[in-house]
Amino acid sequence: MTRSQEWYAGTDRNSYIHRAWMRRGLPSDAFDGRPHIVVANTASDLTPCNSHLTEVAQSVKQGIWEAGGIPLELPVMSLGETQVKPTAMLWRNLAAMSIEEMLRANPIDGVVLLGGCDKTIPSLLMAASSVDLPAVVVPGGPMLTGTFRGVALGCGTDVWRLSEEVRAGELSEEDFLRSESSMIRSKGHCNTMGTASTMAVMAEALGMTLPGIAGTPAPDSRLLEQAQTTGRLAVQLVADDRRPSQVMTRGSFLNAIVALAAFGGSTNAVVHLLAIAGRLGVDLTLEDFDRTGSGVPLLVDLQPAGEFLMEDLHRAGGVLAVLHQVADLLDPDAITVTGSPLVSYLDDAHTWDQAVIRPRTAPIIADAGIAVLRGDLAPDGAVLKIAAASPHLLKHRGRAVVFDSVEDLRARIDDPDLDVDVDSVLVLRGCGPKGYPGMPEVANMPLPKKLLERGVRDLVRISDARMSGTAYGTVVLHVAPESAAGGPLALLREGDVVVLDVPARRLDVDVPAAEWAARQPSEQAGARYAAPTRGWERLYVDHVQQADTGADLDFLVGSSGDQVTRESH
Ligand code: FES
Repeated sequence: MTRSQEWYAGTDRNSYIHRAWMRRGLPSDAFDGRPHIVVANTASDLTPCNSHLTEVAQSVKQGIWEAGGIPLELPVMSLGETQVKPTAMLWRNLAAMSIEEMLRANPIDGVVLLGGCDKTIPSLLMAASSVDLPAVVVPGGPMLTGTFRGVALGCGTDVWRLSEEVRAGELSEEDFLRSESSMIRSKGHCNTMGTASTMAVMAEALGMTLPGIAGTPAPDSRLLEQAQTTGRLAVQLVADDRRPSQVMTRGSFLNAIVALAAFGGSTNAVVHLLAIAGRLGVDLTLEDFDRTGSGVPLLVDLQPAGEFLMEDLHRAGGVLAVLHQVADLLDPDAITVTGSPLVSYLDDAHTWDQAVIRPRTAPIIADAGIAVLRGDLAPDGAVLKIAAASPHLLKHRGRAVVFDSVEDLRARIDDPDLDVDVDSVLVLRGCGPKGYPGMPEVANMPLPKKLLERGVRDLVRISDARMSGTAYGTVVLHVAPESAAGGPLALLREGDVVVLDVPARRLDVDVPAAEWAARQPSEQAGARYAAPTRGWERLYVDHVQQADTGADLDFLVGSSGDQVTRESH
């Protein structure tokens, strides 16, 4: 008996109600045990990166029909990264919770998860992990490469670059605004190795997609072909009863960490992977990212750290070609949704352009990955993306310039009297999960205008916030515990000497130990911008955990399974 038959089978009043309201043209054998598969769709006009998923859903549904299943589209909570305030991360857990509950509450046997924009694939995977129904992801794919004045635009990344050029006086505001209509060339998500592209790669490395689909551009007809194949696969997944908890094992997560390093993926993947692992009960820690990722070569030359864009990656051979290069570092036993190991799809993968996907013998960086730092300023850890950092700043001492909030930063960063020089360390606190609330992408602070005008393009920056996957720089982020949760960033004072030593994985302060121990938190440092009194924000602030464990809500960690024991009528 399938799960959906717990609703539909029988001759009693309740099964009658469940069937009758769903018939609406469905064939009479639709309720006799054929798998009912939901297409959980994050398409929304206010999530522009995902708006084409309605078309993708049609191909998925066609595949489900062909294989004998009953497709059912379920619009689910969707987060448009560029649109929502104060930050989409504030609602990642709400999206995950609402999707989890709707998957559990409904008469379904499996789910196809359609996502794209940054928080959508993480929230879908967190939900699917907690309900643990057979599930497979279709990543919506990146947009095509737009150009401005003959030069390719990295969506997101070039917004930061162009806006800094305006501040440095190198680009007029008029020309900056002219580039706006060129930034988004087609349907699809950001075309850099930002968070959306990274999480599509993570979903594939975890084994949760049809192998080879991630990175297929949104307008490419092959995406619809693969979506249809995924629909058929979903029916097989249900028949095989293969669940996320069987696919996403510790080995799969370590494979994802290898991929994260080889692709130079977004630091946001750290919090998302930790949160997904938390839902599954997989033992994954911050240290795993450093231990497993730091010996992995960076092979993909994509913006924000490199040159090319997602369309180039696909042309050059795509995700499987990159994983082929690091196949020996992957867990050979980690399976995909097909039931076969990820590594079994790599033998035939070929690289067609070695400028985009470097050979293992000539990596961009030999030891890439995410460095996990600990020390006086980050007892529970902080992360730094080595591929996006300036090599000369990886060992650095400098006087702290401390900002208590984003508003404080904006008010003072361009002040000609700001006491800052090329060796200064910019510190932004009050921007963690509880403090902001929602842990926004503001850790890549803008550089002071007076230094930009002198040609300075990077400073060491430290924050309890996140940074956009499309950003770059020597940025220490996700500092835990955050200042609003009693973390030592709150003790820091203007002019304190901060010591960053990435090779030693340390982040310390050069203040006599006795003085540091006696320090009281700055009054402003722990203050929330506006402490929420009701609604989701209140629930979030009361229950959100710190970045080092994935910033999930404490009561959402783990799984509730797919069972509903009580009737609705
Ligand atoms: Fe949606 Fe970048 S804003 S992926």
